[in-house]
Amino acid sequence: MDSLLHFSDTFFGSIMTLLSHTFMLTLSLLCIAAVVFYFIDLTQTRHTIRRNYPLLGRFRYLFEQLGEFFRQYLYSQDREELPFNRAQRSWVYRAAKNLDNTLAFGSTRNNDQAGHIVFVNAGFPVLDEEGQDTPPVIFGPHCRQPYESNSIFNISGMSYGAISKPAVQALSGGAALAGCWMCTGEGGLSDHHLAGGCDVIFQIGTAKYGVRDAAGAYSLDHLHTIAAMPHVKMLELKLAQGAKPGKGGILPGVKVTAEIAHIRGIPVGEDSISPNRHYDIGNHRELLERLQWLRELSGKPVGIKTVLGDEHWIEELLRTVKDMGAKLAPDFITLDSADGGTGAAPLSLIDDMGLGLRESLPLLVNRLEQFGLRERIRVIASGKLINPADVAWALCVGADAVNNARGFMFSLGCVQALQCNKNTCPTGIATHDPKLQRGLVPQDKTLRVANYQRNMVKEVTIIAHSCGVAHPRLLRRQHARAVLGPNRSVSLVEYYKHT
Ligand SMILES: Cc1cc2nc3c(=O)[nH]c(=O)nc-3n(C[C@H](O)[C@H](O)[C@H](O)COP(=O)(O)O)c2cc1C
Repeated sequence: MDSLLHFSDTFFGSIMTLLSHTFMLTLSLLCIAAVVFYFIDLTQTRHTIRRNYPLLGRFRYLFEQLGEFFRQYLYSQDREELPFNRAQRSWVYRAAKNLDNTLAFGSTRNNDQAGHIVFVNAGFPVLDEEGQDTPPVIFGPHCRQPYESNSIFNISGMSYGAISKPAVQALSGGAALAGCWMCTGEGGLSDHHLAGGCDVIFQIGTAKYGVRDAAGAYSLDHLHTIAAMPHVKMLELKLAQGAKPGKGGILPGVKVTAEIAHIRGIPVGEDSISPNRHYDIGNHRELLERLQWLRELSGKPVGIKTVLGDEHWIEELLRTVKDMGAKLAPDFITLDSADGGTGAAPLSLIDDMGLGLRESLPLLVNRLEQFGLRERIRVIASGKLINPADVAWALCVGADAVNNARGFMFSLGCVQALQCNKNTCPTGIATHDPKLQRGLVPQDKTLRVANYQRNMVKEVTIIAHSCGVAHPRLLRRQHARAVLGPNRSVSLVEYYKHT
């Protein structure tokens, strides 16, 4: 017994000694490190705060990062954050998981703010069982292969490169399940876009990734190959994107993997910067000639994606269409909002360049009507249309369909970490780091993408029925009103009359 007690005394004694030695050692190392960092900070010349407040100044970076995190999770109100607040995101998360999306007690939104849109409920709504399926619209009636689609809510261009392989796969699978299209974005067409079997819109950016030769000009071989693919339904020539009009795509070198470099036709690991305009298109006539060239070569509808700045630009385009003949018109215009999303863009363009969709969409539709081209040129609207009321508004104003990028990113699990321009996206969507991609399982997320799309259409249909029309495509400007201030609103017919 004595020997057992002696053993346990010695054993625990040794452990305590070891622990206290380890503690002292760690403490000493920390002190040494603190002294070293103190002198590094004191003597370095690049960072003022660290030079003036050695060691302590370093905590600033930590708090900056933590601040973002705490604001999002703890302190921000439901309607506060940008680009998307918690209320907007929650709707998408719940729709993607197919969870109940009803709320209790009443609206938490301040509906008196000028510009807020309210819908005009009919005295006698259309019974849900008497509602009709949304009819298709035809893109490119003059092409050898026009495209017919009844989808009002689709996946906007996000290049493979800006987003990851599992993200592209899940979007492709989800689009196929839901029956909507997916735009490739300007990074070319990969097998992952085709994996799900959805309709694909092939985008041609200013660098012509995927259809360029070594010198950066069009490669006829590549163009023929892509145009011949049955899943590729239309071509979209990207003139501009809302978040960075007048600036080409930017893919940091860290995201240019061997596969992405191969698809795009560029060197591995180097920043991939597209020119800020198509070299071959410097005026409206050249634009229409290029569209016609692509249309004849592919046999498929060809449109443009742009963001409006100057309204005279669109008037000049439509005048040129009238001069050259409506057959040469773009088959569609994808109108992006100045507050649209991006993988990477300069702050001044993200914040301060171009018109927002709330102003530019009515303007575009009005001009198309004035020039008698409303039926010839289809309108696809994009930019922050992530909740049903946003989509219903766009249809009321005159859009034929809506494209969406960041809503679909939320459906994949995006938490708005605002890191798409690095390789550190925590949800595996905008990164090529395999450790981070591991969390994004395409099979699971495919269903969420499809759920989001379907629930969106379902709730826009609820709005349509409440407004007294049988399907969303029948929504018109008289079905919505713009709030002018407390207790005052005006029909969108009036509101946009002089736009
Ligand atoms: C990660 C990311 C990548 C994008 N890549 C492209 C692109 O390659 N080509 C393009 O035309 N637009 C691109 N966009 C813009 C979207 O297609 C869309 O026009 C814009 O985000 C506005 O829509 P949203 O508010 O629904 O996101 C990208 C957006 C994001 C967030």
